[in-house]
Amino acid sequence: MRRVVYPGTFDPITNGHIDLIERAVRLFDQVVVAVAADTHKAPLFDTERRLALARESVAHLPSVQVTAFSGLLVTFSATQGTDVILRGLRAVSDFEFELQLASMNRRLSPGFETLFLTPAEQYAYLSSSLVREVSRLGGDVSAFVPLPVHAALRERFG
Ligand code: COA
Repeated sequence: MRRVVYPGTFDPITNGHIDLIERAVRLFDQVVVAVAADTHKAPLFDTERRLALARESVAHLPSVQVTAFSGLLVTFSATQGTDVILRGLRAVSDFEFELQLASMNRRLSPGFETLFLTPAEQYAYLSSSLVREVSRLGGDVSAFVPLPVHAALRERFG
């Protein structure tokens, strides 16, 4: 069975993430969306809420599981029975960080592989922090996030 872990902070999950997950569903039997509990960022939504929003947003995809993780990604992936993770590359600016992450993960766990997919063009400029900011300032983010996330942002910012 081909399984892949898609890790991230998902604060909150956006349509760009969903786009990537839907691509991964076509390539793998199972996709594990791994919501990072340890984050150096100060998250808008706590882990439980990020998890719940991600779950609701992928409810239409039966081969996708959503779970929280803490500690090293390579260790978590091993518990999931895979050493393949998926990351998105939106622009050249993502590349340097992603190369560091992929190289460190492979150093920590030889045989560990990182696969990169690019999202649809309309999501190339999307990020969770932009969504949070636009929403906080009263802008309409309905085109960028799944419905449950839109509702949660409206509840938070009015
Ligand atoms: N659509 C929209 N936005 C996307 C996107 C897509 N397809 N792909 C990435 N992004 C955005 C995210 O929204 C996020 O935006 P923000 O910074 O404005 O909030 C940004 O890109 C990066 O987020 P993400 O992909 O979630 O990665 P991350 O940097 O938050 O997460 C971890 C990195 C969790 C995977 C990494 O820190 C990790 O593995 N941690 C575990 C501990 C560990 O093993 N550390 C050693 C690693 S070598």
